[in-house]
Amino acid sequence: MTEKMLNPISSSLKGTLSVPGDKSISHRAVIFGSLAKGTTTITHFLNGEDCLRTIDAFREMGVPIEVKGDTVKIEGNGVDALQEPLHPLYLGNSGTTTRLLLGVLAGLPFHVTIHGDDSLTKRPMDRIVHPLRQMGAYMDGREKGKYLPLSIRGGKLNPIHYQSPVKSAQVKSGVLLAGLLTEGKTSVTELAATRDHTEHMLTAFGGTIKKDGLTSTINGNQSLTGTQIDVPGDISSAAFFLAAAAIVKGSKLVLSDVGINPTRTGIIDVLQKMGATMKVVQQREIGGEPVGDITIEYSTLQGIEIDGEIIPRIIDEIPIIALLASQAKGKTVIRDAEELKFKETDRIEAVVNTLSALGVSIQGTEDGMVISGEQTLKGATVDSYGDHRIGMMIAVASLLSKEPVTLKNSECIAVSYPSFFDDLDRVLVD
Ligand code: S3P
Repeated sequence: MTEKMLNPISSSLKGTLSVPGDKSISHRAVIFGSLAKGTTTITHFLNGEDCLRTIDAFREMGVPIEVKGDTVKIEGNGVDALQEPLHPLYLGNSGTTTRLLLGVLAGLPFHVTIHGDDSLTKRPMDRIVHPLRQMGAYMDGREKGKYLPLSIRGGKLNPIHYQSPVKSAQVKSGVLLAGLLTEGKTSVTELAATRDHTEHMLTAFGGTIKKDGLTSTINGNQSLTGTQIDVPGDISSAAFFLAAAAIVKGSKLVLSDVGINPTRTGIIDVLQKMGATMKVVQQREIGGEPVGDITIEYSTLQGIEIDGEIIPRIIDEIPIIALLASQAKGKTVIRDAEELKFKETDRIEAVVNTLSALGVSIQGTEDGMVISGEQTLKGATVDSYGDHRIGMMIAVASLLSKEPVTLKNSECIAVSYPSFFDDLDRVLVD
C-alpha cells in the first residue's frame, strides 16, 4: 500500500495535455483484434493494468500479442484458433475484462475459471451470468454464480433477445459478443443509451450491427479482419483535468485528442450547465470515433440537478463532479445513480466519506448524493478505497486545500492512468 503526500500547492494548471488512450476502447480493440483474422495494430493504447488483464487473457488463449509502449500488435488467427487456457484467468480489478470476456467465453467450447482481486470479487456478475445462461452457457461460481471466482463451459449457444434490467455497457457488450459467436440474430434492448464502443469497434473490424433506438442486433458468425486502431484520449481521464482547471483559480488548459463519442460526453454537458468557460474545437474522427480538443479555464460554477438519461453518460465522472459541485454556488443534487454502488468500490459511500473528511458538506442518498457548494477544503489522510477514480478525485481535491492531504492506496490509479501524477506535475505552474 502506497501513501502519497499531496502537498498543499497554491498554483494553477496551465498548458496542453494529451491524456492516455480510452480504457473502454483499448479493451475492445484487443478483444476484436484477437477474434479477427490478420494483423491488428493498436496505437495510443491504454497501457494501464485493466487493459493489460485483457491482453493476458487472450495470450492465455494462444493469441500472439506484442506490447511496445502504447503500441499493441496482435496476430489474429480468428475465433477457431483460440485455445482452451491451461490456467485460471486472473482479471485483477477489471470489471470490463470480466464481463466482456465472459461473453466471448460463452461461445467457445472451453472450460475456464476466472478470478480477480478483492474489489472485483465483490462486484455483481449475475447481471452477465443470467443472459449467458439463457443463451445456453454453463456457468457457476460463488453464491450460485453471482460473484467470482466463476467457471464457465461455453459452446454452441442459442440467440436471444435480451431486455437488460441494468444500464450497463458491459452487459450489453458481453451479450453482443456472445451473439457474435452464435448462429442467428441476438439482440439487446437497454433501459438507457450506454457507451457504444463495442458497436463502433465491430464495424472497424468489418462487422455489422443494427441499431434501432435502444435495441442493438447482431448476426452471428461474422468474419472479422484485423485492422489499425488509433485510440482517442480517454474523456474519463481528461475529466480530472477539466475539473481541476475549472475550480483552481488562474487555470487554463487544453486537453487534446479527447474522445467525444456522444455516449461519453455527459461531463461536457454538466460543465456547460454549471457555467464553465470551455469549448470543444478541432472536431474530427480517429479510428471511427469522434475526437476533439477541449479548452477550459477557471470560472464561477453553479450547482445543478443531475438525473435521468445523462447518468450512463457520466457514470465514471460522478466522483469528480461531486468535487466540482463542492466549489459551485448553491446545492447540487445527483439522482438515479444507484449503479455507483457496483463500481470498483461503492462510489456513493467512498465519495461521501472522502469529501466529508476533506471538509465538504455532502449527504449520500439511495441513488446519489446532495452536495453543498462553496466549501473550503481542509487537510486530512484519506483512502482511495483501492478505486482509481476516487484516488484521482482526491488528488484534484488536494489542489484546493491549504493543508497537506495524504492519499492512502494511491497505486490503484495505475488501473486507468499510470502517468496521472507526472501529467499533473507537468501542468501545475506557480
Ligand atoms: C465500461 C462501462 C461502464 C463503466 C466502466 C467501463 C465499458 O460500466 O463504468 O468503467 O467499457 O463498457 P457498466 O457497464 O457497469 O456501467
